[in-house]
Amino acid sequence: MKLWGGRFEGGPSEVFDRFGRSLDFDRILVDADLRGSLAHARGLHKIGILNAEELAVLTSALEQMRKEAAAAVFFDNAEEEDVHTVVIRKLKERAGADLADKIHTGRSRNDQVSLDVRLWLRERIDDAKQHLTGLMEELLALASRYPEAIIPGYTHTRRAQPVLWPHYILAYFEMFARDWERLGEARRRANVMPLGSGAMAGSGFPIDRAAVATELGFDAITRNSMDVSGDRDFLLDFEHAANLIFLHLSRLAEDWILYTGEEYGWMDLGDGVTSGSSMMPQKRNPDSLELIRGKAGRVFGSYMALLVTMKGLPMTYNRDMQEDKEPLFDVVSQLIGSLEMARVTVSTAVLKPDVPKLAAERSWAVATDLADALARNGMPFHQAHKVVGQMVLESVRAGKSALDWTGAELTAFHPAFTAEMAALLNPREGIKTREIFGGTGPRMVALALEEAYKRLAEMKE
Ligand code: ARG
Repeated sequence: MKLWGGRFEGGPSEVFDRFGRSLDFDRILVDADLRGSLAHARGLHKIGILNAEELAVLTSALEQMRKEAAAAVFFDNAEEEDVHTVVIRKLKERAGADLADKIHTGRSRNDQVSLDVRLWLRERIDDAKQHLTGLMEELLALASRYPEAIIPGYTHTRRAQPVLWPHYILAYFEMFARDWERLGEARRRANVMPLGSGAMAGSGFPIDRAAVATELGFDAITRNSMDVSGDRDFLLDFEHAANLIFLHLSRLAEDWILYTGEEYGWMDLGDGVTSGSSMMPQKRNPDSLELIRGKAGRVFGSYMALLVTMKGLPMTYNRDMQEDKEPLFDVVSQLIGSLEMARVTVSTAVLKPDVPKLAAERSWAVATDLADALARNGMPFHQAHKVVGQMVLESVRAGKSALDWTGAELTAFHPAFTAEMAALLNPREGIKTREIFGGTGPRMVALALEEAYKRLAEMKE
């Protein structure tokens, strides 16, 4: 069955039919399509296109189809080009052809597909937000398990300054908190009701668009029919939000692939999220994290695909736009899958606090703390930087680490040092000088962790 054809003498070639079909992937929209049709039918009744009895027949048929469509057999033997067409055929079978033919009054597949995707996407965004807060919850639990652990923070993959473990984990919490907001923004953009736009010029029937919007739970209605037919911004907004989640997930994955490896060796992941090698019996590989990192590339590619598809498209709808769907659906399933995988992986993570502590002590990660101490006593910072730099150089030459220095050696090295400054050679002392909002001072970090729990509780409301 086709929703068009009167104007044609010949049917589509078998190749074109196959080539243009979207049913295999857009069937995922079936429930949204049915819900949209239900609301549209009520809109048509209000303006007298459908009488009460007709509305009742259509409504019960569509409701019945919502139940049936939950099972895959609904689409068995369907040869239609897209989900919208299958729905009409099935509606004819259940409500009679003449009545079913009325449902498309004042509607085009262009505003219909926009509606369906918006309905579908906003629920997926809600799912994604839940998965995201689930991950954030596990991160906070992981931070709380080792509240006092010290690790070296890195720049350039080189030990930079000691930080508290929860401070490091909370950095990811902040990234994901921004992502959570971005998902909310994407949802707001998607949650605008397009029906009534028709093919592109606006419906020829005075459908009460605001009532349709209210019935379907939309916050607003779209303002320009041409814009609706040509617009896929709301998908790009969502995919951008998804991209940043993946960007952050990929960095977390990369960190932990390193930290759990033999060269760092300061974390472990559970057996349940690692795999072995078919040949090397000793291996325990962080495949879950590598897959998350890998999927980030795939998801960025989907975003680029849609961006490039939309670039330079003449107004308004063009069939190119059907290419929005597979990448979108893939982004959604990869996003939800990866958030779930990340949550489970985080829940198995074990820190071996002695190893990063030693790493922070053995290196010169405390150098900045010493330079700061000299500057606090009045030495211009650049000079303090130089003094400590020379001290590090001498240490490296002598094969000494920071903790090998005594207070006497310190003051002997430079008169600006005081014996008390030797305390700062222990990373645990230096972090106490960073009790600034946003810093790694222990009191600040404890406060930040507490606040993060509160913020997370608000997000989950
Ligand atoms: N499958 C189409 C799409 O996803 C639905 C809209 C069809 N509209 C049309 N004018 N052919 O874009």
